[in-house]
Amino acid sequence: MNTYNEDGTWRTDTYTYKGVSFPWYAPLSSLKAMDSFEVRKDDVWICTYAKSGTGWMGEVVWRILSYSGAINTEEPLDKCIYPDFHYRGPRPNYEVIAEMPSPRIVATHLLPSFLPPQLFDVHPKIIYLARNPKDIAVSYHHHLTVSPVSPSYNTYQDFLDEFLSGQIILGDWPSHVTYWWKKKDDDNVLFLKYEDMKKDLRRTVEMICNFLGKSLSTETLERIAAECTFKEMKKRKVRGHICDFLKIDPSMSPFVRKGRVGGWKEHFTVAQNEAIDKWYEQAVEGTGLSFDFLP
Ligand code: A3P
Repeated sequence: MNTYNEDGTWRTDTYTYKGVSFPWYAPLSSLKAMDSFEVRKDDVWICTYAKSGTGWMGEVVWRILSYSGAINTEEPLDKCIYPDFHYRGPRPNYEVIAEMPSPRIVATHLLPSFLPPQLFDVHPKIIYLARNPKDIAVSYHHHLTVSPVSPSYNTYQDFLDEFLSGQIILGDWPSHVTYWWKKKDDDNVLFLKYEDMKKDLRRTVEMICNFLGKSLSTETLERIAAECTFKEMKKRKVRGHICDFLKIDPSMSPFVRKGRVGGWKEHFTVAQNEAIDKWYEQAVEGTGLSFDFLP
């Protein structure tokens, strides 16, 4: 995919498909290809709203599959690949994924109605990782700001208006998270929260391991938790190649940035906080879903 416009400036264009805004690096051809994308029973799908800790989950899942012997290929650059994006050279990601050996780890931020229909027939294991929307908003704004090939905003308020109205690229948080919350009791779905993972990574690793039907020793579970702390992931500079594609200075990495619960407190005015509180209450009302907003 060409990251430049004809006049040499970076591409930042977006387009709307079925009422949702998409960035140019999630091309329409890739979205349409989802209709016939072949899902395998032994795939592991990581479904998240953007900035919810997708890369973190990918590191954990890859280690569980690798250390249990299910995967014996070399450590890949990215532990989870998005089929709807096109950032791995001339071929769209979905074509690359179609040729990957099983078990594949596939990640996506797509809203349910854009997902491959086979995902709901084949029933692979699906891990949904949810995060409180205030920290997501801060993280998302930072991500878009440091990527010159993504949409940019004059002010934080402009960004927040789009985020709360769902006009933001990849769509709205409430319908994403509440859809998967309703599926949380399905046998092939594990619904987790970033805040719980942050509180007790070792326990979360064990839950994921059990869900994936793998058996690992206590030492290996502890090793995975130790290798996937924020500090260790920051040291390893994970997902540097996506930063290359998104033209992000690696020192500004939006993929392993602050890794905090409650960082939003430093970014919202009182009025903005009140607006997001009101929006959040409406989003989760009657669902039983709730989030920790502070550590
Ligand atoms: P922040 O920007 O709030 O720091 P995604 O992979 O979905 O784009 O999510 C990125 C967010 O997950 C970033 O949030 C990043 O710092 C956080 N993250 C990545 N690895 C983490 C880890 N090991 N522990 C805690 N947070 C992590």
